[in-house]
Amino acid sequence: MKGIILAGGGGTRLRPLTGTLSKQVLPVYDKPMIHYPLSVLMLAGIREILVISSPEHLDLFRRLLGDGSRIGLDITYAEQPEPHGIAQALTIGAGHIGDSQVALILGDNIFHGPGFSSILQGSIRHLDGCVLFGYPVSDPQRYGVGEMDDQGLLLSLEEKPARPRSNLAITGLYLYDNDVVDIAADIKPSARGELEITDVNKVYLEQKRARLIELGRGFAWLDMGTHDSLLQAGQYVQLLGQRQGVRIACIEEIALRMGFIDADALWTLGRELGTSAYGEYLMEVASQAAGRSGLTDGLTAPTSRERADRTWREPLRKGR
Ligand code: DAU
Repeated sequence: MKGIILAGGGGTRLRPLTGTLSKQVLPVYDKPMIHYPLSVLMLAGIREILVISSPEHLDLFRRLLGDGSRIGLDITYAEQPEPHGIAQALTIGAGHIGDSQVALILGDNIFHGPGFSSILQGSIRHLDGCVLFGYPVSDPQRYGVGEMDDQGLLLSLEEKPARPRSNLAITGLYLYDNDVVDIAADIKPSARGELEITDVNKVYLEQKRARLIELGRGFAWLDMGTHDSLLQAGQYVQLLGQRQGVRIACIEEIALRMGFIDADALWTLGRELGTSAYGEYLMEVASQAAGRSGLTDGLTAPTSRERADRTWREPLRKGR
């Protein structure tokens, strides 16, 4: 399966933060926003990823992520000249998709929850049509909304309905079979002039090939459309990190866990980040993975219980 991250748009609701920067490189606690959706694709096992952004911002992403090879990925880039809708990512990305299945994710969505990697990999294994992910929210009129029957079958999909039929928002992660290339090419602009992703999904719904997986309690889905939600997302990541001693959406660590890179490569990546706590975390994880705590030069080795829990202590060299 191929991956696409859509990271364009004007970021107008985040001005003046987005005066010179792309929204999707803004910091969310310890890392740029785009690392979060990238980590989702990686957890799904996807390594060939196309990043789409506006012409003025694409170079920022190139500089940030390069060709992806350092974390075992193959990352390429394409321009979206104007933000004409999310579904346009699928026509811009048609060459990248080729005859594969594709996962499309919005560059401003954070997903975090137990077993997400298995949910993703299981959905991909059984993919026939499209898989959407629903999340209960208190303000569904801001999103695409899905309605399910008692058996969990998807009944309807609507984009930002004034009167939502349910509280289930359709999140910004979409898994498609290869038919999506033709479906997206046939979509017409909506009343607001956009190629709506909901219209693509409705085609699958009519074909009875749209599945909705509800991300339940204990799961976090955050989009970062406003100053408040951006700050809250950062605080969420900070809180979990400090409480559990693990870093959410750490793409370098995920690359190791997924077998995309080895412990040596991870250690080198950490070392290059100098004295940042993030770099020290990478070196510590790498040392534990390689079972060679001597290399970390003073970092705390994990106890067997910590190892078993897959949690790690923050480096001791804080404050340097
Ligand atoms: O976040 C989930 C929601 O995303 C879904 O529930 C909706 O069905 C879907 O339409 C979308 O709604 P938004 O109102 O959040 O869409 P927005 O226009 O804000 O775009 C979402 C992200 O995609 C944003 O970071 C900008 C980027 N984007 C958007 C468009 C329309 C692009 O890169 N290019 C585009 O052409």
